[in-house]
Amino acid sequence: MRVLSGIQPTGEIHLGNYLGAVKRWVELQNTHECLFPIVDLHALTQSQNPKTFRSQVMEKAAELLALGVNPETSVLFIQSSVREHTELAWIFNTITPVGELERMTQFKDKSAKSKNINMGLMDYPVLMAADILLYQTDLVPVGQDQTQHLELTRETARRFNSLYGKTFKEPKGLLAKEGAKIMSLKDPSKKMSKSDGPSSYLSMFEDALSVKKKVMAAVTDTGKNIQYDPNKKPGISNLLTIYAILKGVSILKAESQFADADYSSFKKAVADLLLTTIEPFAKKKQELLSRELYVQEILERGGQHASSIAQGTMQNVRSKVGLS
Ligand code: TRP
Repeated sequence: MRVLSGIQPTGEIHLGNYLGAVKRWVELQNTHECLFPIVDLHALTQSQNPKTFRSQVMEKAAELLALGVNPETSVLFIQSSVREHTELAWIFNTITPVGELERMTQFKDKSAKSKNINMGLMDYPVLMAADILLYQTDLVPVGQDQTQHLELTRETARRFNSLYGKTFKEPKGLLAKEGAKIMSLKDPSKKMSKSDGPSSYLSMFEDALSVKKKVMAAVTDTGKNIQYDPNKKPGISNLLTIYAILKGVSILKAESQFADADYSSFKKAVADLLLTTIEPFAKKKQELLSRELYVQEILERGGQHASSIAQGTMQNVRSKVGLS
């Protein structure tokens, strides 16, 4: 079974991203053939600084390796290094109705917020379909926010197959488990997100002082018991979820562990556990950043591996549509 999931090179990987996505990838590596493109072409739909863009891509690679992506078993590569992604996206453009792209919620959200409503932003889901279908992917681990894009991917496979004959597999989504949904530290009714400001999220590579500060300042609820009750006590419940997942215990178990604790000693325990988890990641990232050639080599090897699969698919596609 082949798994593929992409990540943008821009923006930090926060705790919600890690527990909802990257940690899952690391687990899937043991049982599946995994491909992880760093989707730099997708990131270009928002304006980027050409002087720092490349180093952001390298940094993202170092971060993924630090978090446990295994270059011996998984294919980690840069999307733009495999030209077939854009070529297949173009072919898919010719069979995708404009109306379907106009209806995409993420496109509507992004274009409502941005002045830079470029064609790439609208075409984003088509490129994502190409990322996935190029490799005859079986499973795509993604967050809830990507289900509409994944549905378009499946529709694109069906459409191409019915127009030109069976060519693509229809991939399935692998949605993050509900329990892995991490909420904002500032407003626990919202999902943890970078758009909510720095005090609302924890980066996986954040320094110790800042982690402690943010956890101690996390919004909690009235009352003084450490109880799991997402409706009445969303703040405490979120911290309990974080604690339980990181510790690898059930929420019930975590709850009973803090039966006699007050908010402040509970928060301190959460902060300590977070630090034990993320400090080794930060160290590993620094080490990898100082071995740039090694990271580059991994990405090159990954790109070659991905290319060999992608070229096979494209040859078939070219002949199916009559280009060769
Ligand atoms: N759109 C995805 C996100 O924002 C990133 C992405 C690009 C992706 N290509 C992909 C995810 C292919 C899964 C598969 O999270």
